[in-house]
Amino acid sequence: MTAMTPGQLTEQVLAAYADTPDPRLRQLLTSLIRHLHAFAVETRLTPQEWLAGVEFLTATGQKCDSERQEFVLLSDILGFSSLVDLINAADGATESTVLGPFYVPGAPARAMGEQIGRPEDGHPTLVRGRVTDRAGRPLDGATLDVWQSSTNGLYDTQDPRQPPFNLRGVFVTGPDGAYQFRTVRPVSYPIPTDGPAGGLLHAAGRHHWRAAHIHAIVSAPGHRPVTTHIFDAENPYLDSDTVFGVKDSLVRRFLPAGPGDPPDVGYVTDMDFVLAAAEAS
Ligand code: BEZ
Ligand code: FE
Repeated sequence: MTAMTPGQLTEQVLAAYADTPDPRLRQLLTSLIRHLHAFAVETRLTPQEWLAGVEFLTATGQKCDSERQEFVLLSDILGFSSLVDLINAADGATESTVLGPFYVPGAPARAMGEQIGRPEDGHPTLVRGRVTDRAGRPLDGATLDVWQSSTNGLYDTQDPRQPPFNLRGVFVTGPDGAYQFRTVRPVSYPIPTDGPAGGLLHAAGRHHWRAAHIHAIVSAPGHRPVTTHIFDAENPYLDSDTVFGVKDSLVRRFLPAGPGDPPDVGYVTDMDFVLAAAEAS
């Protein structure tokens, strides 16, 4: 009798799942089993390392609750969230990036140009631009749901000193597709590091900083929504963003306000958004 080889075991496991009725689930399982087995063979994974992995994933699950999703954070710091984003992007539309854990649905509707934060949140900044389709036609009734942290690096949900929905707002464009809102210049901030994802960053010798950004979900009737960021071109973490969220096309200069700009803002940044038509279903 010859001993079983790793390859024979992999084929045996694949055969056991070969009749999975749902074709997409069958494809996902088959590929997952192949890659998982190849990983163990390639690294000659030891039982102790296997157990450490199981304990790490267990701790990741135990860190999750209704307000904290440690698995998403883990996916983010491994670049997996950004990879899924990338392979599902629509050609010619504004590039998307990670949603992150601090999005809160139901932000207040605000008048065009309104301030979303408080004076103490940072340097007053005007963000403005247009929402268009891929042919450059303005989108009427496009919605921008925007949010960001204060200059102390904290979102309202992390900071009891900020009122609910501070630095959040929803803006709807008119027929010209134009939008503008007042906020503060974004700052770099650390992602939560008190869980297993933070432990992994530490073990890998990576920092925990996000490049300064403003979040936006831009949507319009009949178009594919885009979840994205506006990054500050002067930020030192653009090349090493801890969650691999930076894309060159999303980086903008925050310029000192000039003579033609409103007198109440210190910086102005221009960012247009392009949406792809929704695929016919
Ligand atoms: C954020 O930008 O809010 C974020 C994204 C991924 C992980 C942590 C925070
Ligand atoms: Fe963020």
